[in-house]
Amino acid sequence: MELELLPFSRTHNVLIDVNEFHHKRTLKPHSGHHVWHSDFVKMPCSPESLINTGWVTSSERSRWEVVSKQLESLAKKTTASVGDVEKAIKKYNPKYEDQWSFDALHTFVQKSPKEEKYYTSVFPKIAKLASNLPHYIKKAIPLLQKGQTQSITLSQSQIACLLANAFYCTFPHRNSPNPRAEYHNYPTINFNSLFEKWSERKREKLRALLHYFHTVTDPATRPCGLVTFERRYIRDRDMPNWGSCKETVPELHVSSVGFIEEQGAGMLQVDFACNMIGGGVLGSGLVQEEILFLMNPELIVSRLFTEKLGDNECLFITGSQQFSQYSGYSDTFKWVGPHRDDFERDEWQRLHRQIVAMDALHFRHQREQYNMKQVTRELNKAYCGFKADDNTYPDFLPDIATGNWGCGAFNGDPKLKALIQLMAAARAHRGVAFFIFKNFSLERELQNMHHLLVTHRTTVGELYEFLDDYCAVIQSAHTHVDLFDWFRNTLKHMSQL
Ligand code: AR6
Repeated sequence: MELELLPFSRTHNVLIDVNEFHHKRTLKPHSGHHVWHSDFVKMPCSPESLINTGWVTSSERSRWEVVSKQLESLAKKTTASVGDVEKAIKKYNPKYEDQWSFDALHTFVQKSPKEEKYYTSVFPKIAKLASNLPHYIKKAIPLLQKGQTQSITLSQSQIACLLANAFYCTFPHRNSPNPRAEYHNYPTINFNSLFEKWSERKREKLRALLHYFHTVTDPATRPCGLVTFERRYIRDRDMPNWGSCKETVPELHVSSVGFIEEQGAGMLQVDFACNMIGGGVLGSGLVQEEILFLMNPELIVSRLFTEKLGDNECLFITGSQQFSQYSGYSDTFKWVGPHRDDFERDEWQRLHRQIVAMDALHFRHQREQYNMKQVTRELNKAYCGFKADDNTYPDFLPDIATGNWGCGAFNGDPKLKALIQLMAAARAHRGVAFFIFKNFSLERELQNMHHLLVTHRTTVGELYEFLDDYCAVIQSAHTHVDLFDWFRNTLKHMSQL
């Protein structure tokens, strides 16, 4: 589908100069000014950003003056030690001098093999990129706040510069763990948590991220496109009335081999997200979402401006680039090497990759999920992620690549979640491909169940009623009753009547 000219509107904030882009295809930062306001990202280079250098108010200095001095002096070096990085960061974060540890970064560099010793020469390059923030971002970045549908488009170089600042922990007001702190409802963005508490996981994360910075600071490999981050919100009253939906289940492909990001290339790829986007990517988390963010580090910048997702909201990211390849999962995860992303770009110079971050409910006890309030919440969330935006013609809607959403760290029942996703996809009129991660028996069971639902022409509304009955059964039963067994029996019973 051909896109209209890159539009700038009240709900779509473009951080590059749209006119220059249309006429010369250049990605020049849009001029404007920074705003020190609760609806916008508070930038370290804003004149209002101050640093307290003493105990009296009169000793406040411009934060950027201190930050840029540190970064520029690092940038002049050909190599910088972790000690240099730590010293610089602590200079403009004096409050955290005794709290922040850099042991993981120290150990990482010490233990890195000879062929990866380039890290110390990347630190100055990241510093140089970070110090150029006022040239890359010239206008305020709005926060993608709850209850709003809003998007931001920015260039991959702007993202790299913002992430370089996150690496050097320059973002103000983002470090307080206090539950009443200004940004308590936002994920963390400064990388300090990545630099502490050495572990094998941290090593692999740092390898992936330093490879990203190495690539984006090299003029030969610097990426040159745009990426859009869109928060989508659907009001309760616009959600389907699930019990009366007449759609039948959509086309389904199930495979126990393959990954969402590889075999699902070209489809809408589901990120099994945390409501705080990116989850534990800057900490020790290392499951689907964190791995995705490490392979596509541009996704991490969403943490800067995306408020915690509410029940009826998702985040869509269009155009992010994959920089790395990996093997393993969780404790066996390894950064394997660079990835050459050969996806084509659309008219807005965005790579043809669309990811939707949807956070499932986290069930401490499995039983909690067999409850229509929770089922409806998950249906609404999946529908929000699968529904086409108003500008896309149905013929151009890619299918959805998903899998065991909410069924790992979040403890969901894979069969229930598969059914929920099928129902939401049916309502959104899209086909689904399930990549279910080496679970061969689930693959067969899902195919059989799908076949059954197609043969019976079961509608989404009927499925919703069935689920209501099933939840009642589970709530009163002492032992677990398998959802698919129960379904088969119920359908058989009904066809005998
Ligand atoms: N392709 C297909 N399936 C996958 C892939 C992949 N690349 N990776 C994992 N799976 P999980 P959740 C399967 O636990 O339960 C994070 O910290 C695999 O079977 O990542 O929704 C987030 O930030 C795995 O068990 O998703 C959230 O805080 C299952 O998908 C939280 O975890 C679920 O993956 C979300 O947890």
